[in-house]
Amino acid sequence: MNIKILSANPNLYSTQRLVEAAKKRNHTIEIINHTKCDIVIEKKNPVIFYKGKKLDHTDAIIPRIGASVTFYGTAVVRQFEMMRVFTTTESQALVRSRDKLRSLQVLSRAGLGLPKTIFTNYSRNVKEIVEQAGGAPVIIKLLEGTQGIGVILAETKKAAESVIEAFNNLQARVIVQEYIKEAGGADIRAFIVDGQVVGAMKRQGKEGEFRSNLHRGGTASVIKLTDEEETAALKAARAMGLGIAGVDMLQSARGPLILEVNSSPGLEGIEAATGKDIANTIIKYIERNVD
Ligand SMILES: Nc1ncnc2c1ncn2[C@@H]1O[C@H](COP(=O)(O)OP(=O)(O)O)[C@@H](O)[C@H]1O
Ligand SMILES: [Mg+2]
Repeated sequence: MNIKILSANPNLYSTQRLVEAAKKRNHTIEIINHTKCDIVIEKKNPVIFYKGKKLDHTDAIIPRIGASVTFYGTAVVRQFEMMRVFTTTESQALVRSRDKLRSLQVLSRAGLGLPKTIFTNYSRNVKEIVEQAGGAPVIIKLLEGTQGIGVILAETKKAAESVIEAFNNLQARVIVQEYIKEAGGADIRAFIVDGQVVGAMKRQGKEGEFRSNLHRGGTASVIKLTDEEETAALKAARAMGLGIAGVDMLQSARGPLILEVNSSPGLEGIEAATGKDIANTIIKYIERNVD
């Protein structure tokens, strides 16, 4: 098969591992920088040019689109779809997953547990917002944040109100969320490929840190999901329409609560924690879908 990885950075661990896994299974694999693709649209003849050369004979793509280039990356994925190329992440699902608010709405409709979340159009009623979120302490999140940057724990009502007011004044969109204290600075990541959990890890924030992100100094260890956690993770990936997903959940007194669903989950943390060859699982997923 002829597989292409859409990645702006060929040196990333995930990209390298996918190249390795595809070669091991005797596929031709190439890394394409989607930001350097030109899209040609005309009647029933979708074409992509890459570095001046027409891209053809592609059987499947693995999109690894960074959050900063979602708009153009999605257009490239959509163009491949029009060329009837199999994609491990559909363009629609990619767009859906990148909008944190829309994602929470989709997950809520699917009946999944979520931390109670409030979003307003820069409302001045900051007192009410904090009360709606269960009162202090509350979590305040910049809508555009990733890797834990832009997630704030406001310990008191006063702090929460002034932080929300400050962001409102800057016209920075935030969500205000119930703080799940019993999660204890940890969360779980379930890695899903094709409707199955292929690995799961628990990430624990460093001492005194409520954010468990590995980029913020958290540490990961392998865990076995409860049936309830596994069901929730699979349901979340399905609701988002993602063939490959990293579902992040908090363990709470009322069961698993979905935090976010990542459409380009990294392989490094999960392969290290679980010792599993997840890149290989992804290549086999493609093989099942391309004849
Ligand atoms: N409502 C919450 N209650 C408790 N901890 C939370 C809550 N929301 C986020 N966290 C912690 O902060 C981390 C980062 O939040 P997250 O929503 O995943 O943002 P990002 O997209 O930046 O990773 C989570 O992994 C979790 O450990
Ligand atoms: Mg996160």
